[in-house]
Amino acid sequence: MSQVLRCPAPAKINLFLHVIGRRADGYHLLQSIFRLVDWCDEITLEARPDGRIERAQAIPGVAESDDLTMRAARLLQQVSGTDRGVTIRVDKVLPMGGGIGGGSSDAASVLLALNRLWQLGLRRSELMALGLQLGADVPFFLFGRDAFVEGIGEQLRPVDLAPAWYVVLAPHVSVPTPRIFSDPELTRNTPPIKMPDFAASTTRNDLESVVRLRYPEVDRAIRWLEQFSPARMSGSGSCIFAQFPLECDALHVVAQCPVEWTAKCVQSLPVHPLRAWVDD
Ligand code: C5P
Repeated sequence: MSQVLRCPAPAKINLFLHVIGRRADGYHLLQSIFRLVDWCDEITLEARPDGRIERAQAIPGVAESDDLTMRAARLLQQVSGTDRGVTIRVDKVLPMGGGIGGGSSDAASVLLALNRLWQLGLRRSELMALGLQLGADVPFFLFGRDAFVEGIGEQLRPVDLAPAWYVVLAPHVSVPTPRIFSDPELTRNTPPIKMPDFAASTTRNDLESVVRLRYPEVDRAIRWLEQFSPARMSGSGSCIFAQFPLECDALHVVAQCPVEWTAKCVQSLPVHPLRAWVDD
């Protein structure tokens, strides 16, 4: 097998996100639909025989100790006992602190790729358990398809959604997730819904009102996008999105986006591009 693997790490959007409670350890109990979209970071991994785990280049603003790709590789190396190492290069495309899962997806793609590169033979459920140690959103990307998500992000059930086009708008504000979850204004008692009901339920992102309050730029961006189609925040922001019936409708909106923000036309992905890299 080749000693170099290149792989994408796709983004997600949260079609809704309800906070239904809080665990004793401070983590929040959620209900959400996570959807994969075709906007990706690019990761290159090169196996090395000396056992070292290194970055090919620094990611601006991300210390190596916080870099989830490094932490994913070290965790897998430690758990598997392999004597092999890797050099990891991340070509960052996705906005950071954007609520579209870039860092979590990078970590998931590293786990999937190293399981292959180091020929470890771990199964999907084993990688998902490791992923959860890195972050609550990581198991979703290892699950590899659109999901109704509960718990803190580790209980996943597949959902079938019609293909769709979206505009994802990044307002160039980085929102720290812990700050939003710990905000006194956050409501944490949305009544739970049953999965088959979600289409009929009136859903929202419970984190959105707090982010709009603390980050007025996000509020402005939502009001701008709402001129064209109902807009909502993804995750803990700052990215927002709106659905459009046709690609050309989405592109038309992207073309009008004010220069201070970044807008991208994306399509839903039927499955994660690396889903078949690991056995169930
Ligand atoms: O798991 P992850 O590192 O992505 O989460 C970042 C932070 O977001 C956590 O430290 C926690 O403060 C908050 N969080 C939460 N409940 C969740 C997910 C994240 O409170 N279900």
